[in-house]
Amino acid sequence: MNWSPDTTQVKSWNEWDTLRHVIVGKADDCHIPPEEPALDAKVPEDSDMRGQWGRRPQETIDRANELLDNFADMLRKRGVRVDRPTPTDFSLPATTPDFHTDSQFGCMPPRDVLLTVGHEILEATMSYRCRWFEYLCYRPLMQQYWEEDVNFRHEAAPKPRLTDADYHADYLSEKIGIEKRLKWTAEKFFVTTEEEPLFDAADVLRFGKDLIVQHGFTTNMKGIEWLRRHFPDHRVRAVNFPGDPYPIHIDATFTPLRPGLILNNPNRRLPDEQRAYFNKNDWEIVDAAQPAHNTPPPLCYSSTWLSMNVLVLDPKTVCVEASEVYQMEQMDKLGMEVIPVELRDAYAFGGGLHCCTADVYRDGDCEDYFP
Ligand code: NVA
Repeated sequence: MNWSPDTTQVKSWNEWDTLRHVIVGKADDCHIPPEEPALDAKVPEDSDMRGQWGRRPQETIDRANELLDNFADMLRKRGVRVDRPTPTDFSLPATTPDFHTDSQFGCMPPRDVLLTVGHEILEATMSYRCRWFEYLCYRPLMQQYWEEDVNFRHEAAPKPRLTDADYHADYLSEKIGIEKRLKWTAEKFFVTTEEEPLFDAADVLRFGKDLIVQHGFTTNMKGIEWLRRHFPDHRVRAVNFPGDPYPIHIDATFTPLRPGLILNNPNRRLPDEQRAYFNKNDWEIVDAAQPAHNTPPPLCYSSTWLSMNVLVLDPKTVCVEASEVYQMEQMDKLGMEVIPVELRDAYAFGGGLHCCTADVYRDGDCEDYFP
């Protein structure tokens, strides 16, 4: 059945086919959560975020929401159906029999939580305690899709215990230093242990029959094995990016634009032995352009490489953050039509244009790009 705006259909097999229906996050009530093991490991050692937490200043929330609303309006004007999550009260603690943290996070980046594979939307286990309940923000939409689309599969991965056994204590010391972090990344020694399956949805990229998954801070090997068993008709491949001292979420590191073309962060190059899989199937991996900024905006977890965190609307059209002049120029040279979208003031709330969205429907079927 073809796409129609009058009926809800869930279907998306890859990152580039024509986008028809998407979820765009919200910045409401977003908090900087208190310290906890996996989150601390990600906050850069020189970050302005070390040692402070609480609700983000209202004027920054309002500004981020203005940008997210504008982005949603632009997509709607182009004919894309846009849904929004229902924020919960993130000032409430997250408490289970296994852990307690004093506040939660927010719901700006749905990409971290929801993994759409074909007719299924899978809620990730998540790996931060403060994000354990974030799936609740999307439940009203999941319920609606389930009522309206008989083919929709709503799935949730087993919620993890997230006890201290899930985290390597070595990562909890105040100063580790970049050199040691890079050594640990190269050795695949990450903050999360192999206690139980863990994954964030934003560590997964969909290439039709192949799911490419970053093994790092937020996704462990058991999480990747869980995905392999859950999607038996897919090939699930683990990838690593040894140049990244804070390896979480693949979407500022490896960005497919269309069949045969991927941008790779030049500081986090895919190792040759993993690159071969793509090259032998005629995929070109190109170094991404440099970011336009030397530093991330204030109170931001992410790196300046959100420059390559783009949203592909179809194999010829891509949304790029409006201040990322070098990335826009490169896209243009690669033959893409570029839609500049202002989002930098929302980065601190959980990421860029890819992070703040989650696919509901794209045209196209499940293809094998690596036969
Ligand atoms: N590892 C990423 C997060 C991207 C969404 C970074 O570069 O900060």
